[in-house]
Amino acid sequence: MDLTRSKTGILGLDEIMHGGIPENHTVLLTGPTGSGKTVLASQYAYMGAKKYKEPAVYLSFEETTDSIRRNALNFGWDFRALEKSESFAFVKYDPYGIDNFLNNLEGRVRELGAKRVVIDTISALDLFLRDESEYRRLLFNLYQVLEKLDCNTLLLSETVPGTPGLSRNGLEEFIVDGVVVLYYKMVNSSFSRAVQIWKMRGAEHSEKLHPFKIKKDGIEVYHTEEFHMKTKDQ
Ligand SMILES: Nc1ncnc2c1ncn2[C@@H]1O[C@H](COP(=O)(O)OP(=O)(O)OP(=O)(O)O)[C@@H](O)[C@H]1O
Ligand SMILES: [Mg+2]
Repeated sequence: MDLTRSKTGILGLDEIMHGGIPENHTVLLTGPTGSGKTVLASQYAYMGAKKYKEPAVYLSFEETTDSIRRNALNFGWDFRALEKSESFAFVKYDPYGIDNFLNNLEGRVRELGAKRVVIDTISALDLFLRDESEYRRLLFNLYQVLEKLDCNTLLLSETVPGTPGLSRNGLEEFIVDGVVVLYYKMVNSSFSRAVQIWKMRGAEHSEKLHPFKIKKDGIEVYHTEEFHMKTKDQ
């Protein structure tokens, strides 16, 4: 099947995705703490708004928007300028009325005509909810809203070192269209990073594990290289 793909704008990542993320896909971006999820998601949102005329919205349940803006600026990504031109927005949420975040998100996506959404991180939401069934219901509602909005979404989630699941709750990976896993491993006494496309419904992609680096202007994936996991878990 020949799908229309949306370029991430991240060097090497589009190559291992064979062109980018298929349109209207919700993709789980998962990995341990410090693996680079927020950097990758910021770069994805920034590149969309700046380079591809795909406005982006970013909902952060974890880091403050100030911290994300500041870190992005270190890479040369000026979110403030994009916010002024209404091609990028951070979405606010109320921790005491967490169910409303979906309405706010939908409203902002429509106002900006956003084509990219980042939710950082979805696993943080279970702190606000009473039980797993409530979390499951919210995930399902979120997926339905995103599908209706006709945009691409990166849903960030945590893997817990030493456990086999792709997400902390073991639920997210089943509802999404794609899964991208970031690895952060000890190799010869220093950390190395790697990325793998775990699944991408209806699309071809590299099945290999590829090394990547966080450089001064952002992430670069070495798409012609393969990462060998001759390591012990961190
Ligand atoms: N400007 C920079 N230059 C080089 N490396 C950086 C830069 N900024 C961050 N990093 C690296 O990226 C790491 C943080 O990545 P990031 O915040 O994206 O991780 P994360 O997966 O979102 O973690 P968490 O689950 O804690 O939110 C830092 O620990 C550092 O190693
Ligand atoms: Mg993060």
